[in-house]
Amino acid sequence: MRTTFLTLLILLLFISLNTRAQNPVWEEVAPGVWKTIVGVPDKFDLLKASGVKPNTEALLKLGKMTFPLPTGGIVAEISDGKTFLRFPLVKEEQIYGFGLNFKTVQQRGKILQLHVDHYGGTDNGQTHAPVPFYVSDKGYGVFVNSARYITVYAGTAVRKESPNAPEPRDRNTDKKWTSKPYSDAVEMVVPASGVEIYLFAGPTPLDVVRRFNLFNGGGCLPPRWGLGFTQRVKSLYTAEQVMEEAKAFAEKGYPLDFIGLEPGWQSKSYPCTFEWDKTRFPDPAGFVKTMSEMGIRLNLWTNPYVSPESPIYQKILSLTGSHTVWGGVVADLTLPKAQQIMLDQMEKDQISLGVSGYKIDECDGYDRWLWPDVAKFPSGNSAEQLRQTYGLLLQKMTTDLYRQKNERTFGLIRASNGGGSSFPYVIYNDYYSHEDFITALINSSFAGVLWTPEVRGSKTGEEWVRRMQTVCFSPMAMINAWSDGTKPWSFPEVEKEVKEIALLRMQLMPYFYSEFAKYHFEGTPPFRAMNLEPGFGAKVVSELKNDNLSENPYAEAVTKEIKDQYMAGEYLLVAPLFKGQTEREVILPEGKWYDFYTGKLAGNGELIKVNGELGKIPVFVKDGGIIPMMPPRLNAPKSGEKFDLEIRYYGSKPSDYQLYDDDGETFDYEKGDFSWRKITVAPDKKGNPAGVVSKPEKGKPDNIGSITWKFMTK
Ligand code: GAL
Repeated sequence: MRTTFLTLLILLLFISLNTRAQNPVWEEVAPGVWKTIVGVPDKFDLLKASGVKPNTEALLKLGKMTFPLPTGGIVAEISDGKTFLRFPLVKEEQIYGFGLNFKTVQQRGKILQLHVDHYGGTDNGQTHAPVPFYVSDKGYGVFVNSARYITVYAGTAVRKESPNAPEPRDRNTDKKWTSKPYSDAVEMVVPASGVEIYLFAGPTPLDVVRRFNLFNGGGCLPPRWGLGFTQRVKSLYTAEQVMEEAKAFAEKGYPLDFIGLEPGWQSKSYPCTFEWDKTRFPDPAGFVKTMSEMGIRLNLWTNPYVSPESPIYQKILSLTGSHTVWGGVVADLTLPKAQQIMLDQMEKDQISLGVSGYKIDECDGYDRWLWPDVAKFPSGNSAEQLRQTYGLLLQKMTTDLYRQKNERTFGLIRASNGGGSSFPYVIYNDYYSHEDFITALINSSFAGVLWTPEVRGSKTGEEWVRRMQTVCFSPMAMINAWSDGTKPWSFPEVEKEVKEIALLRMQLMPYFYSEFAKYHFEGTPPFRAMNLEPGFGAKVVSELKNDNLSENPYAEAVTKEIKDQYMAGEYLLVAPLFKGQTEREVILPEGKWYDFYTGKLAGNGELIKVNGELGKIPVFVKDGGIIPMMPPRLNAPKSGEKFDLEIRYYGSKPSDYQLYDDDGETFDYEKGDFSWRKITVAPDKKGNPAGVVSKPEKGKPDNIGSITWKFMTK
């Protein structure tokens, strides 16, 4: 029996290793999601690493769709032990995605090698989340479910037999000669003799992204406190110093929900012992308890490399790879037993004391630091596959542990990949370009990940306040003072402005929390690219010159690249200012837009110029915008704690908003313990806007106290 099976397998392998180019057969695996298997895929891939289940019910709500590409246009071939893939592109089609890029949003014309690494300053595929997923502005998306280093020719390669092949031109005489002629395909090389591919339908690019996120279990829903403010303290701070710092926040009136401890909480780091340093933290349990009594949660830094002095070293040794990182062993986290040893230590030493989450560092690269591709792991999975999934595995195992305890976590991770949308982790890095951090925030919405443009230091107060403003309009409002110990009030000349924006972040919590719930239940990224906004890009963007053409000459898709403004939730458009800027242009999508602070009309589907007031980040609200806010406060509401709402309304269009509520701390929402309340604004008898909030559902969470309305547009 066994031998026959093996022979069959070898035969199958032989056939599949040498397939001729063919059109794959697609099977609809969820509403609007198709899958094909080419050759014999690896046993281990991105979706196996993430282990999440699609939210089919929510996918069904997005509606039935037909296959979004001409089936004959997709070609797969296996030769030389590799899989070669081709997907069609048409003229004027633009594509987005391929992970967390920092400099460009439009990807047509790029050659990338998707490789988990610390971002090194070039959009070449080496980044923290090199997700093999792209979205077309024609309303479909492609996901290659492989944990390999995939090479992507995103509309650069030209085939001899292409019906759209560009005419050869004479460089001597023809001014139109170009070194980068038109290409009509995305081509990829997957270094494996087979692969699983998914196709996502729209109809809009935002629907494609929604389907991708829902297929990956839906976006994460952080605890309410996760959306408050967080400070990461200097690496070698003692328990006393951390408590002093928390007190200073409260005394000075700056919000703070959780503090991050950097490497110094551990007895040894790089590699790590995974245990408290008893000189700096002589009584960890007492310390965590005191912090919790002050209303402050704790997040602990770690990297995954196990020091020979760690209590888990001997236990985990046989389950580690052949190579070390900084002298620490690298657990084969594809083995459940290795995961368990690490988790047991975290649980026993930290989580059981009340630690609320982790910042898991260095699971991305740099290349020189990490295990090399020649490393071998006991599971038989390759070093390359471990590299592409280590961040995913760390997120999954820790999320599952918190889920078992029915406590939500919200942490930081430096590597992720396709399949990770539902993990409550935000990516960060050491690169510190403010402009590029915003481009990354925009691109995170095409990759199913979250990103924080963390604030560390600044040369001037002006730069400090500008950075603080954008981080407060991002998934995690954080100062990372691990090295220089900066505080929100470190620049006295902008203390007032910094406090204002940090408190605004708190005021916006009901809005942001509802937006995260939509990420979870509907797949809509809470912070996202303008290109995902309906009505954007049509008139104004195409009227503008394509300033990206020189950078991206293959593109032949005439659109301006927008990488410095983004959507925050359903109604807000954020247009940050960077250091030295006193004014900037903002492209408003179709329809009327209003100034967030004054309620005045700012423009209507046009390009506007805004002046940079130091204390304010330019924010615009869509006509009919309903923004539920709460009074400024220093900590997020606790489970069961009532808070008042101030609902702001902008413009004049009748509209509605879904306000989300649950206990804010546990996973009970996964069992249906949540509620949506509908806020509606429509004109009253006199034609003035009037607002109504639906009653709370019986037996469901209800944390809303009194409700007041503010009609911002007079
Ligand atoms: C870096 C990380 C920083 C900080 C530092 C501590 O790798 O990106 O945010 O945590 O390690 O050593």
